[in-house]
Amino acid sequence: MARVLVTARLPGDPTERLAADHDLMYRDVDAPMPRDELLVRVAGVDAVVAVLVDRVDAELLDAAGSQLTIVANVAVGYDNVDLAACAERGVVLTNTPGVLTDATADLAMALVLMTTRGLGAAERRVRTGEPWGWSLTGHLGTSLRGRTLGIVGPGAIGLATARRAKAFGMEILLAGRSEPDPRAVEGLGAFVVGLLEVLRASDVVSLHCPLTAETRHLIAADELRAMKRTAHLVNTSRGPVVDEGALVAALESGEIAGAGLDVYEEEPRVHPGLLQREDVVLLPHVGSATLETRSAMADLAVDNVLAVLAGREPLTPVRA
Ligand code: DGY
Repeated sequence: MARVLVTARLPGDPTERLAADHDLMYRDVDAPMPRDELLVRVAGVDAVVAVLVDRVDAELLDAAGSQLTIVANVAVGYDNVDLAACAERGVVLTNTPGVLTDATADLAMALVLMTTRGLGAAERRVRTGEPWGWSLTGHLGTSLRGRTLGIVGPGAIGLATARRAKAFGMEILLAGRSEPDPRAVEGLGAFVVGLLEVLRASDVVSLHCPLTAETRHLIAADELRAMKRTAHLVNTSRGPVVDEGALVAALESGEIAGAGLDVYEEEPRVHPGLLQREDVVLLPHVGSATLETRSAMADLAVDNVLAVLAGREPLTPVRA
């Protein structure tokens, strides 16, 4: 019987399928497993179902032992995993692409709307009981029709966000490391340009690239300075893609008009310079957080574990 460790509570009940034929250690807790505990619990397991706050590195893989066969990350991003360390030890890594595309694109679009219309500040005003009344010139945001959305990282989620923005009448620019699907580009009437052009020409820049050594602080002081002073930055990818200190400075000096953030450099810590600002919208990393989506992510991770433990190919492997 293979031993499977699930490090945190999963939505739905996919663990029943794991427990049917395997020795399951299910930590039914809705919070990350403390590192010390993780290093102890992982010893001797054949499969780990991990969440994005679990650091899967050489130390953890060695603590598990050479029988470890698969790490199934319940996320599309896998910057928490040391790919080379997995490859060296012959450990299969899987992620959960596809099933969270719509939910994350929906959230990115929500942030586009919230930041351009100042909805965070507006909602706070009503909630805190601050006096307000209807007026022609109060709470003026900016419209989306005819404005340009720049997508940095035109993969599945970036393109799904672009499709939503298109329906709101926005023009689309795309920039990324690899060429986006030409049919998608044509369907959007989009232009593929360089990062600098996206930054210079967009009214909203939305980030959708994975976090890698190349994309860490991809958006720092120079990039923020290149943006229009009226532009907004939206980040639903990973926090460290943006230099948060530089973002605070750019907002303070009026180099950009606002930001909508779902992710942060050191989650759950948020830069104190962001917390006080009315021109930012701050969400607690909820891009994929719908019951349907998170259940589909958990199901896919479990499917990957069951396939690999049965000697079959993983459904959604990450290749180093
Ligand atoms: C992912 O899948 O990478 C998301 O950030 C999880 O919500």
